[in-house]
Amino acid sequence: KKENWIAPSILSADFAQLGKDVKDVIAAGADVVHFDVMDNHYVPNLTIGPLVCESLKNFMVREDVKAPIDVHLMVKPVDQLIGDFANAGADYITFHPEASAHIDRSLQLIKGAGCKAGLVFNPATSLSYLEHVLDKIDMILIMSVNPGFGGQAFIPQALEKLKAARKMIDESGCDIRLEIDGGVKVENIAEVAAAGCDTFVSGSGIFGKANASDANRYDTVIKQM
Ligand code: DX5
Ligand code: ZN
Repeated sequence: KKENWIAPSILSADFAQLGKDVKDVIAAGADVVHFDVMDNHYVPNLTIGPLVCESLKNFMVREDVKAPIDVHLMVKPVDQLIGDFANAGADYITFHPEASAHIDRSLQLIKGAGCKAGLVFNPATSLSYLEHVLDKIDMILIMSVNPGFGGQAFIPQALEKLKAARKMIDESGCDIRLEIDGGVKVENIAEVAAAGCDTFVSGSGIFGKANASDANRYDTVIKQM
């Protein structure tokens, strides 16, 4: 198992001051920027695209904010956005296998663009999609909510799925991160970790505490994670 990473989901940040919010959470100890892309087609919500990713990346370079950008594509079709996000500074690109006509091709496009690749599993999606591609992926993302919105309740069945994915990773010997996304908070992160997760997305659990105005407001919550 890898070193634990906290990945704040900027879906719950203040988009009017996105750079500042990202800078603050990384300064507070977070490890990864989780970037949720929704298309109002694969999921019933509309968020941000490559232009925002590029602005954010440029800001991070300028301000010396060091953290990978983890782009979670909730879009269908998948392929035409891969190059755009790679050019916009994405480090990881993950997609939902049901949203791609040719999963292996999408993985190859991501790797060919120089990014790390991952598959995302909705609560009712089988891990069997991994069978023939385990050696081609860098990340498995288990959804513990149905994708589309921040602030939803954690679906407990995700814990069994994490354990199954952990077992597959360990038995394969492949170098793969195991990420969880949805409803993760200080209160439940320990049991998620115990199920084998090493990369913890949290949106409302981190940015939801953002009423205070000082830059250190994320410190306490991230330190408890
Ligand atoms: C949901 C997104 C998540 C979301 C998580 O479709 O993929 O990344 O922002 O938000 P919380 O942590 O509030 O459940
Ligand atoms: Zn996400």
